Amino acid sequence: MNIVIVGVQWGDEGKGKIIDILSEKVDVVVRYQGGNNAGHTVVVDGNEYIFHLIPSGILHKGKICCIGNGVVVDPQVLLKEIEGLQDAGFTAKGRLKISTLAHLILPYHRILDQLREMKRAHKIGTTNRGIGPCYADKINRCGIRMVDLLNRSVFADKLKDNLREKNEIFRKVYNHPGFDFKKIYCEYMEYAKRLSGYIANTALFLNEALRQKKDILFEGAQGTFLDIDFGTYPFVTSSSTISGGAAIGTGVSPEKIDKVLGVAKAYTTRVGEGPFPTEYPRRFGNFMREKGAEFGATTGRPRRCGWFDAVMVKEAVMLNGISELAIMKLDILDGLKSIKICVAYKYKGKVFRDFPHDTTVLRNAAPVYKEVPGWQGPVTGIGAFGRLPANARSYLKRLQDLLGVKISIVSVGSGRQDTIFL
Ligand code: IMO
Ligand code: MG
Repeated sequence: MNIVIVGVQWGDEGKGKIIDILSEKVDVVVRYQGGNNAGHTVVVDGNEYIFHLIPSGILHKGKICCIGNGVVVDPQVLLKEIEGLQDAGFTAKGRLKISTLAHLILPYHRILDQLREMKRAHKIGTTNRGIGPCYADKINRCGIRMVDLLNRSVFADKLKDNLREKNEIFRKVYNHPGFDFKKIYCEYMEYAKRLSGYIANTALFLNEALRQKKDILFEGAQGTFLDIDFGTYPFVTSSSTISGGAAIGTGVSPEKIDKVLGVAKAYTTRVGEGPFPTEYPRRFGNFMREKGAEFGATTGRPRRCGWFDAVMVKEAVMLNGISELAIMKLDILDGLKSIKICVAYKYKGKVFRDFPHDTTVLRNAAPVYKEVPGWQGPVTGIGAFGRLPANARSYLKRLQDLLGVKISIVSVGSGRQDTIFL
C-alpha cells in the first residue's frame, strides 16, 4: 500500500515518529517537498534522531530513502546529516537517492531569506534556511538543480548568470557586498564529488519500484496550514505541503496513491508568525510549552501552543483526502482539569464553521469551544485504547466525531513502544 503522511496543522505534529513506525511495513520512503526547514524527530531506544532532509525511514536497515524532485536541497546540510548517520552506525550508501531534478539551495538563498525577513514590516518568522528564495528561483526558471552539479561547465554557467543579476540586487537593494563566483563554485564542486553517488532519476526508480509491487511511503514536511496555497498566506512555507504535493514532488501519479494518513497533535502548536485562533493565554501557554517540550527541532525557537482546532483539522481532512488520523502527544494533556476543542469561529456576530480564507477574520476571530473533562493519571505506557482513562477515550471519540474521520493511531510518549494502534 502506498501511503502519504501529512501534517494537518502548522507542522511539528509528530510526522517523524509515524513515518519511522510505518517505514517497517514499506520498501521505500520518499520526501516530496520542503527542505531543511523541516525537523523530524525520531526516538529509538532512548536515542533521539532529528532529520531535516533525509527521510525518517532511514533508521530501518534495508529500506531505500529518496529525496524527491520537489525538495530543495542544501548540500552542506545533507552531507552533515549523512555523516551524523554514519557516526550513529547507520549507512546511507546505496540506500539514499537524491533526485536529479531537486533544486539546490545556494548561499545567496540563505542570505536573501534573512535580508528579506529583516526588511519585512510583517515578518513571517522563516527558518532562515533559504527555502523561500530557492523555490522562488525554481519558479523563476533560474534555479540550479542536482543534475547541474554533475556537469561543471553547466553549473559554472548557471551560477555566473545568477550572480550577475543577484549581486547587483544584493548591493543596490540590500547594501550587501554580494557573492564571489569562485568561492561558491569550488565549494559546490566539492559537494558534487561527495554527493554524485547518491544523485539519481528518482521518478524512474519509484515507478519501477511500483511496477515490482513495492510499497512507498510519502513523507510530508511542514503542515497543511503552511501550504503555499491553502495555508495562512503569507505566513506559510513556499511549497505544496498537502497530499497533492506528493505526486508533483516525486513523479508518481496520484492514481498510484492508496491512502492519506493525517498526523495531528492532541493540541496545536505553531512556530513563527501568523494567525492562531486557539492560542493559549500566555501563562498557560508557557506551562504547556515546558510540559510538551515545544521548542523547534530546527531553530530551537519556542513554539506557540493552543487548544485543538477542529475547524482547521476538518479543513485539512478535506484538502488532503485523509481517511485515517494519528493523534500525537496525548500524554501532554495529562492532569488537566478540562480540555477545550474549537468547533467554530465567531467574528463580528457571524459564526464560521468552515476555515475562513480572510486573514482578518482568522486573526480576530473568537474561537467557539466545546469543553470536555480531562483525566489525571499518566497515559504513557498504556498500550491499548481500552485501558486509557475514560475521559481520554471520550476526548478522542469527540475529535473523531467532529472530524468525521477514523483515529487509527494514538501516541502516548516519544518512543516507538508508546503507540496505540486502533
Ligand atoms: P516540520 O516538517 C513547523 C514555518 C516557519 C515559518 C514558515 C516559513 O518539522 O513540521 P520557511 O523557512 O519554510 O520559509 O518558513 O514555516 N515552518 C515550520 N514550522 N514545522 C516545520 O517543519 C516548518 N517548516 C517551516 O517557522 O513560520
Ligand atoms: Mg518539526
